[in-house]
Formats: sequence, C-alpha cells, structure tokens
Amino acid sequence: MRLDRFLANLPHLNRQDALRALAEGRVRVDGEAVRDARHEVREFSRVELDGETLQAGKPARYFMLHKPQGCVSATRDAEHRTVFDLLDEPDKHELHIGGRLDYNTTGLLLITNDGQWSRRMTLPGRKLPKVYYVETEDPIEAHYADTFAQGLYFRFEDLTTLPAQLDILAPRAARLTLHEGRYHQVKRMFGHFQNKVTRLHRESMGSLRLDPALAPGQYRSLTAAEINALG
Ligand code: URA
Repeated sequence: MRLDRFLANLPHLNRQDALRALAEGRVRVDGEAVRDARHEVREFSRVELDGETLQAGKPARYFMLHKPQGCVSATRDAEHRTVFDLLDEPDKHELHIGGRLDYNTTGLLLITNDGQWSRRMTLPGRKLPKVYYVETEDPIEAHYADTFAQGLYFRFEDLTTLPAQLDILAPRAARLTLHEGRYHQVKRMFGHFQNKVTRLHRESMGSLRLDPALAPGQYRSLTAAEINALG
C-alpha cells in the first residue's frame, strides 16, 4: 500500500495530516525519513511517525533448503512428506516455495514469506540462470548441446524453450543451465532424445549456490547479501 494511504487510514490521521507529516519529514520507514507519498509500505516495513511506531513490520524470512529425494515441493500432500515437514519454523503456513523441484529431484530450493521477492526471481524477463547436474540412462550425445542451445518446441505450452547450455561431463552426466523453469523441463528436454533422466540436482539459482555444508534435508537462512543478490 502507498505510504500516504497507509497514514490516512490510521484512525487519528486524515489525508491532510498524513501529507503534512510526510512533507515535514516526520515519517520513517525502516529507520529512514521518507517524504515520498507513493513509497510502498509492505507487511515487513517498520513505520514510525514522530518516533512512535505505527507498524512494527513482521520479519521477512528467506531460507535455502537442500531438498532430498522423495519429498514433494508443496505445502501439503496426502501421501508423501513435503519440504515443509523438514522446516522447524513457526508460522509455516506463511511460507512458500520459490521455484519447485520434482519429487525425486534434489538440491537448491528457496523458501520465503516474501511474495514480491520470489515473484521477481521468476519474472520471465529476468532469465535467472538455474544450473542442474543431470545423469541419464543412455549416453548423452554431443549434438544434444546444439538442440538445447537452439531451443526445443514444447507442444503443450506452444512455446520454444530459451537457449540452454549443456556441458557434457561424462558419457551419462552433464551440467545444464536453464534460464526459465517450465514444468518437468529438464526431463522433457532429455526426453526429446528418448533419454531418461535418472538423477537431477539443482546446484544454483543466479549467484546463489547450494551451500555444501547442508546435507540433504537441512536448511539455513539466507544472508542479507544473498537475499539482495537474488531479489
Ligand atoms: N526440471 C525437471 O524436469 N525437474 C525438476 O525438478 C526441475 C527441472
């Protein structure tokens, strides 16, 4: 909500009082004096007027989880454990996943209560690189790299995937960098060559790499630098 509306909605202020308080620099958001009436007040913002707290702001929370196999990227599931079962956090219902992984895919999963941050990460124009380690049933042939670089047509969505980079590491292992996140994208890309993915692990999203200190199932909070680099 805009700051002027937030202030004018308070029972003891009308719109004129709100505009005057702003013009006089008496309003602070997150510790900084703000004069711009359009400044966005979020549920996480701390807002003060004349040193008095109007809204304390709830903490924004950001986690990286090393997702293990056999775990659903969802808040609840009738049959299987979910990634949220791995979190020992209060108010888990306020959290959501920024970029799901399939049931048997392992690796970097981001969980937050900040919807703006996670939406920014997945904006189509953002093209945040996501790096996957892939193992396959059959040998990975050199020509896959050209096809992935040109993009593959996905009939269901009626779209061509963005250029992806394939680095072949071993006959049946590769590193694949995608700049989008379509449904089962990696499996469908290898499926184009009838080559089944037998192991899939997300190593990084943008500049954020899965912390090697995290064993499967473990998680930690992101640092301020990590949050800013991605958001
Ligand atoms: N692509 C897939 O096929 N599965 C994932 O979990 C992530 C990307």
